[in-house]
Amino acid sequence: MNISQRADYTFQYNQKLGRHGWLRLTPAYSVKLVTEIIKQIPKGSYILDPFSGTATTGLVAAEHGLYADCFDINPFLIWLGNVKCRQYAKKDIEFLEKGISQALTNCKYLVDQECWTPNIHNITRWWSNESLKVISALRQALVDNFGEPNKHNEYAVAWIAFCRLVIETSSASFNHVSMSFHDDTRVFSFQQITKLYKSIFYTILNDVDKSLNSNVTVAFADARKIHLYSNVQYSHVITSPPYPNRISYIRELRPYMYWMKYLETPREAGELDWQAIGGTWGIATSRLKNWQPIPQIDFPLLLDTVGKIMSTAEKNSYLMATYVYKYFQDIYVHLANLRNILLPEAKVMYIVGNSSFYSIQVQTHTILEEIFYYLGYKNVESTIIRKRNSKKELFEYCVSATWNTSIDNMSIKLPSATEKSAQLSFFTSSQ
Ligand SMILES: C[S@@+](CC[C@H](N)C(=O)[O-])C[C@H]1O[C@@H](n2cnc3c(N)ncnc32)[C@H](O)[C@@H]1O
Repeated sequence: MNISQRADYTFQYNQKLGRHGWLRLTPAYSVKLVTEIIKQIPKGSYILDPFSGTATTGLVAAEHGLYADCFDINPFLIWLGNVKCRQYAKKDIEFLEKGISQALTNCKYLVDQECWTPNIHNITRWWSNESLKVISALRQALVDNFGEPNKHNEYAVAWIAFCRLVIETSSASFNHVSMSFHDDTRVFSFQQITKLYKSIFYTILNDVDKSLNSNVTVAFADARKIHLYSNVQYSHVITSPPYPNRISYIRELRPYMYWMKYLETPREAGELDWQAIGGTWGIATSRLKNWQPIPQIDFPLLLDTVGKIMSTAEKNSYLMATYVYKYFQDIYVHLANLRNILLPEAKVMYIVGNSSFYSIQVQTHTILEEIFYYLGYKNVESTIIRKRNSKKELFEYCVSATWNTSIDNMSIKLPSATEKSAQLSFFTSSQ
C-alpha cells in the first residue's frame, strides 16, 4: 500500500487558518483531519479532548457549534487554548487597540532601562543583546497596559502577538522534527521589532473579530485521573495523546513559557515534563531510572516490545524500554478511568503514531487496540492516516472504539497472572 506523508494532515495545514495558526506546536494535529471527524458528529453531541494541546479539537468544535470540554496538563497550553476559543467583545477589542498603540509609544522610553528578561539558559543564543533590549522593553510596556499575561484573558491576544514576536525574532529553527538553532543570532533594530509586533497584532486582531458558534473551555486535568475533573458524560472523545517518541512539548514551548512566566527555572521544566505522559526533558529522564512498573498492568504485545528493546543491549536500552513501558501503563490508566465519564455507546478516537527504538518498532496502534479490548471497549479498529517520515516506517493512525456499557465494574481491571508473559521477569530481573 502506498501511503503518503500528507502535509495536509499535519500542523502545517493549520498555519494560515486564522486562530489555528496563532502559535505553532509541531505535534498539533491537522484542522482538516479534525474537521472531517467533527462533520460526522451530530449536533448536540458532547465532545471531550483530554490531551488538548493547542486546542485544535476545541476550536474546530466551537467553529461548528458543537460543545467540547478540553483538558491538558500544561498550564501554558491551557491558557493558549482558552485565548484561542474565547469570544471577544467589541469594547475589549477597542481597549486592546488603544493599549497597543500606547505600549508601542511607551516602549521607546523603556529601552534604556533594565527591563525583566527570563531566566532561559544561554538566552543570547536565542536573541541578540540588541534585540533583547527592545523585546524586554516592549514586554514591560505591555505589562503596564494589560497586566501580566495570565491576569486578564480578554487582552491576552496582545500576549499571543508577543509570543509570535519572540519566536520570529529568535534564532530557533524548525526545519527538523525537533527545534534547533540557526548558526548566528539575528540582530533586530527598535523599528524592526515594533513594526513586526504591530503587524502580527493586527493579523491576529482580524481573526479575533470572527465570532465562534459555541463556547469551549480548556481546563487543567491529569488525563490519568480524568474522571475526577469532569461531571459531564461525553458522547465523543477526539484526541491526540503524546506518542511514545520522546518528543518534549516543553522543549518546543519553552521560549513562550519563560517569557509568559509559566516557567522560571530549568528544573521546573523537567518537573512539568515528568508529570506529562511520555515526558522526557531533564529530570524527567533521570526519574525514569527509578520508576517501577505496576505489575498488574501488562499485555503480551507491550511486554514483547519492551523485552525486545531491552535485548538490543544498547547503552540506554533499559531506559528506553522503561520509557515505553511507563508510557503505555499511563495510557492504560487514562483509558480505564475515562470509562467513568462516557455515555453509553460513546465513540472514542485516538490519533497516535508509532515509533522505533534501536530499530525495534513500537506499534502504538496495536498496543492501544489491545488495551481497549482489555478494558471492555468494543468495535475497536485502526485506520492509517499518513506516513510520518520519509525514511523510517513511521505512520499515524486513528484508533477508534465504542464504550461498551455492559461492563459493570469500571475500577481498573487487572490481568490474571497467566496473562503475563515471561518478558516481565526478563524486564524486572535485568534492572
Ligand atoms: C499530541 S499533543 C496534543 C496536540 C493537540 N491535538 C493539538 O492539536 O495541539 C499531547 C498533549 O497532551 C498533553 N499531556 C501530556 N500528558 C498529559 C496528562 N497526563 N494529562 C493531560 N494532558 C497531558 C501535553 O501537554 C500535550 O499538550
